[in-house]
Amino acid sequence: MIKGVSMYQGRKVFAILLAAGSGRRMNMEGKKQFFRIHGRPLFQYSLHCLEESEYVDGIVMVSCEEDLPYMKEILSKDDGKHEKVLGFFPGGKERYHSVYAGLFGLKCFLSGDKDPIVLVHDSARPMLTHEIVEDSIRGAVEHHASVAGVQSKDTVRILDKDGKACDTPARSSVCIIQTPQAFDYSMLSKAYEKLIKEEEEGRLSALVTDDAMVCELYMGVRPFISRGSYRNIKITTAEDLKLLDLWLSESDGS
Ligand code: CTP
Ligand code: MG
Repeated sequence: MIKGVSMYQGRKVFAILLAAGSGRRMNMEGKKQFFRIHGRPLFQYSLHCLEESEYVDGIVMVSCEEDLPYMKEILSKDDGKHEKVLGFFPGGKERYHSVYAGLFGLKCFLSGDKDPIVLVHDSARPMLTHEIVEDSIRGAVEHHASVAGVQSKDTVRILDKDGKACDTPARSSVCIIQTPQAFDYSMLSKAYEKLIKEEEEGRLSALVTDDAMVCELYMGVRPFISRGSYRNIKITTAEDLKLLDLWLSESDGS
């Protein structure tokens, strides 16, 4: 059991860092979470931020089974101590399988304390900041569920079945959803257990896009939108890598 050194308002905070995707849309050799950018594999940027956060007590890493030894090797050879990394777990086919694996893995590190907060983050979002992490945790403590988001800069049109524009939601009511997403641990695990049970029984009907949706669907809890950032982008295609390179150059002065 790890020491409760951090905590947020008496609640322990655990993070699940997802890195079990295959990065198909990147259309490049290798998996994007391991791309070296400014000397560091991509997944290490958000890991570093979570490790440095004064509120995060422990981190569970989720990666493809075949990449787990590589990930462990990277972390054993760099200059960090990674004391907050509790364990490494194999992810699954879809993102929600990986989250479930992380929640399941986390279970054995929990003591009987007050219901902890669990924060789920995509390692494909390397520009995570302490402000985003803290806002996300605060949102979960106050509202049980929170999702980082930013207001859409663009006008969004809803299309009809023929691909023609119909509705136009007010821009101020359109939010671009990001991670981290943070929740009461007990609630998120219950939601995911329901989801996985439905899938095992062949009854899964809804399209699951993120953790907040799982919470809404299975627990009826709507998330609070915490403050994300326009730089907290998900590295999805090669042009996102160029942007990241630019932002990192700004911050390291290269
Ligand atoms: N992820 C995961 N397990 C999966 C799928 C995704 O842990 N089965 C993680 C990815 O590693 C990433 C995050 O979820 O950090 C968001 O997913 P996405 O950006 O879609 O990454 P990939 O699924 O790897 O990319 P693509 O969809 O282009 O294949
Ligand atoms: Mg994906």
